[in-house]
Amino acid sequence: MTRLVGAIDQGTTSTRFVIFDERGSIITYHQMEFEQHYPHPGWVEHDPYDLLATVECCVEQAVRKLEATGKYHATDIVSVGITNQRETTIAWDSETGKPLYPAIVWSDGRTAATVKQLAEKSKNGVNALQGICGLPLTTYFSAVKLRWMLDHVPVVKEALDKGRLHFSTVDSWLIYNLTGGLNRGVLVTDVTNASRTMLMNIHTLQWSDEAVSFFGFQGLQLAKIVSSSQVYGNIANGILEGVPIAGCLGDQQAALVGQKCFNVGEAKNTYGTGCFMLFNTGSEPVLSKNGLLTTVAYQLGSEKPVYALEGSIAVAGSSIQWLRDNMAIISEAKEINDLASQVEDTAGVYFVTAFTGLFAPYWRDDARGTICGITQYTNRNHIARATLEAACYQSKAILDAMNRESGKPLKSLKVDGGMSNSDLAMQIQSDILGIQVDRPAMRETTALGSAVAAGLAVGVWKGVHDLDKVNTENRSLFTSKITEEKREQLYAGWKKAVERSFGWAKD
Ligand code: G3P
Repeated sequence: MTRLVGAIDQGTTSTRFVIFDERGSIITYHQMEFEQHYPHPGWVEHDPYDLLATVECCVEQAVRKLEATGKYHATDIVSVGITNQRETTIAWDSETGKPLYPAIVWSDGRTAATVKQLAEKSKNGVNALQGICGLPLTTYFSAVKLRWMLDHVPVVKEALDKGRLHFSTVDSWLIYNLTGGLNRGVLVTDVTNASRTMLMNIHTLQWSDEAVSFFGFQGLQLAKIVSSSQVYGNIANGILEGVPIAGCLGDQQAALVGQKCFNVGEAKNTYGTGCFMLFNTGSEPVLSKNGLLTTVAYQLGSEKPVYALEGSIAVAGSSIQWLRDNMAIISEAKEINDLASQVEDTAGVYFVTAFTGLFAPYWRDDARGTICGITQYTNRNHIARATLEAACYQSKAILDAMNRESGKPLKSLKVDGGMSNSDLAMQIQSDILGIQVDRPAMRETTALGSAVAAGLAVGVWKGVHDLDKVNTENRSLFTSKITEEKREQLYAGWKKAVERSFGWAKD
């Protein structure tokens, strides 16, 4: 009997539906980009209905492609997993099921003043809630975005006052609508997504009354928190009607699962719109003193949760998009490689891509994009290379913080995501980190992670021990080709450039 598993991957700039077989090989997929809205500098919004419409369209188109193979049928898909851009915040009216404001995207920096006000409420400043939710107060997390909506969008405040305000992250919005929406839809959010809101207690995996009242959210309607792998409900309409949705993980946690980092001390780095390094810390949450986030990595059914330390970089692939769309230095994203490979180095240029502030391990809302070291000699090849290097240097700052935290230096880093397709970028990454970079042949690990969660829930795989044959073949390994001295010298330049990026944000 053929058993396939589908994965809805609702990312920051595109949505896809990927269909996997039991070996974790992709049978087919469909992908669509959707519109990004930038109403003011530093603001990023999505239309929640675009997210839903692209999901429905990708599912439909991918299943048609599956049928067109003549070998498989829609009925071979036994379950569907969801993985999604995290933290992006949707406020809806629980009586109509309709959003009250555009989704504020995770990378949106409009909430800097809100962060300041909230931090002033506690003697622990930005770490006011770290002991509860593992996260610092920054513009990044959902509760801060919702607080901003309550302070600036009267209809959202009115809904809270009337007890009709429902808050959700993207996973919950999709599951609710895919399972039938108003009056029928299932209102759940998985532990990994909930752990990015600042409202969940990461020890109990329940909403924290203390965090809810800290933000002034009394009366807010919140979805039920569930594990990352269980049947939540069935798809209500369309080509996959009746198929259970049985897996759900934030995209970075899904990539950790897709890379099979199931052991303490294993880590992965995913180069998507942003770039996110997650390090498995096992069954205990580790609170960071070095600018890292504590997050739930996954919880498979009734098993104990597994935690991770995370280093988040807000800008990776989006800087390549910026070179294409705003600067017209390239006309297609993949051209960046051709340009960057024409030079041996950046000739002293550093590009700190802090478009809406700088995330881990610096957490500076006031930072802005900064290019340092330009001379008359600098050309677009150097700028292209410096753009690729930016995420690699910030990853080095994060890896150093992780090594300090764990006391056991990482020897190998698993990688995936768009930029990992570039051999040049991964060689640069290995040179800058000074450790091995390990890349799988099949790099849709985010989608695979949610498919694994959905497959485990319905018995496609019996447990993580049953995943030995999934996505193991043809890995590429990159090892550093520069000396320690050279690495230190290059990294010193990055640190100087980072200092220069601080303080440019307008209040
Ligand atoms: O936390 C934000 C993250 O989930 C976005 O991921 O892949 O769109 O960069 P990505």
